[in-house]
Amino acid sequence: MSLQDKFGKDILLTGWGHSKFGKLTDETLESLIVQVSGEAIRNSGLEPRDIDEIYLGQFNSGMQPLGFTSSLALQLSGELANVPATRAENACASGSAAFQQGVKAVLAGTARNVLVIGAEKMTDAGAGMVGAALLGASYEMAGKASSTGFTGLFAEVAKHYEKRYGAGILGASLGDVLGSIAAKNHRNGMDNPYAQMHRDFGEEFCRTISEKNPVVAEPLRRTDCSPVSDGAAAVVISTSATGGATAPVRLAGFGHANDFFPAERRDPTEFAATRASWERALGMAGVGIEDLNFAEVHDCFTIAELLMYEAMGLTPRGEGSRAVQEGWVYKDGKLPINVSGGLKAKGHPVGATGVSQHVIAAMQLTGTAGAMQLPNARRGAVQNMGGVGIANYVSVLEAV
Ligand code: COA
Repeated sequence: MSLQDKFGKDILLTGWGHSKFGKLTDETLESLIVQVSGEAIRNSGLEPRDIDEIYLGQFNSGMQPLGFTSSLALQLSGELANVPATRAENACASGSAAFQQGVKAVLAGTARNVLVIGAEKMTDAGAGMVGAALLGASYEMAGKASSTGFTGLFAEVAKHYEKRYGAGILGASLGDVLGSIAAKNHRNGMDNPYAQMHRDFGEEFCRTISEKNPVVAEPLRRTDCSPVSDGAAAVVISTSATGGATAPVRLAGFGHANDFFPAERRDPTEFAATRASWERALGMAGVGIEDLNFAEVHDCFTIAELLMYEAMGLTPRGEGSRAVQEGWVYKDGKLPINVSGGLKAKGHPVGATGVSQHVIAAMQLTGTAGAMQLPNARRGAVQNMGGVGIANYVSVLEAV
């Protein structure tokens, strides 16, 4: 099964751009959007006048005073005058929300070439404002004060998980497993020139509470958290390639599932709707998890990556630790996960993340990922999540 079989047309990623992630004091939200939009259009071999529609993924939620950002990409070129542009918002999955809206516009035939951008400028706001904005993605905590921010919500997931499955984690504590995931992603981030953190902390440091690695919200330490970041990424989606600088990549399947918002309506030890989004995307592509050569997943906190191993069907529930303890998800393992460093080391400018994941996957599939490059990367998946398993998106991408 392919999109061609299902919808009568292919969806290709024909060009992309990616900014450095980090605390980018010399950049604005606008400059980041213009930079990556220009790169993506140029690399696709198109001109700005060829773009039929624009989707921008951005969460914002109070981190930036400008609350109406859809037209910022038009600043790139006068040729973009009158191009329809819309901001898509689905918390930390806003980038993938924009991507899938773009895909649907091309599938519907209302656009031939869509520019999809993900962008976020978080570091202009103080830590308190960022924390409050992120808590806007929680049904229970929106508008309430919290000293542990969004970390506190994932810390609850970790506590529930440890209570239910702790005894099943062979030969290590949950804290050590999470420390291994952090160390893996920090090691991988060393190879990513776009990454915010180039620091190979090692297992011992990530597993140990220290002055340099304090608890943020018990049991999650600083190294279990993604950082606060600025950054942007963009892709051009088309039905056919026009011979740009980058070879195209094909979208083989996509899935989206939202869960109930109140915590009491969800099992805290499982990302049930994340699982549904994986099943939809893999089902549309007609492949299984064993057919993937790599995945970029949403490790906003290390506990999220652990639950992802289970949601994507890599292990049964409660056994996710095997994937890291037995080496499956390392760069030389059977399914390398987050070779970019993930959100953990690459950074997590929230609205940019989903588009960044697609760009990194496209680089892998075209052999242009530099030091991150995996041998024989022919098919990969990206997974992006908003809230605590609430808005879930998966794309399966293939080399052409
Ligand atoms: N992982 C590892 N190291 C980190 C880090 C992270 N996430 N964040 C900061 N650091 C390092 C800095 O590089 C700095 O190192 P140095 O002292 O050697 O120079 C040190 O920690 C202190 O940096 P600072 O920015 O003062 O840290 P902080 O304590 O203010 O913030 C967190 C750390 C983890 C609290 C913050 O990054 C955070 O809130 N992350 C979660 C963001 C979030 O919720 N995103 C949404 C997810 S859904």
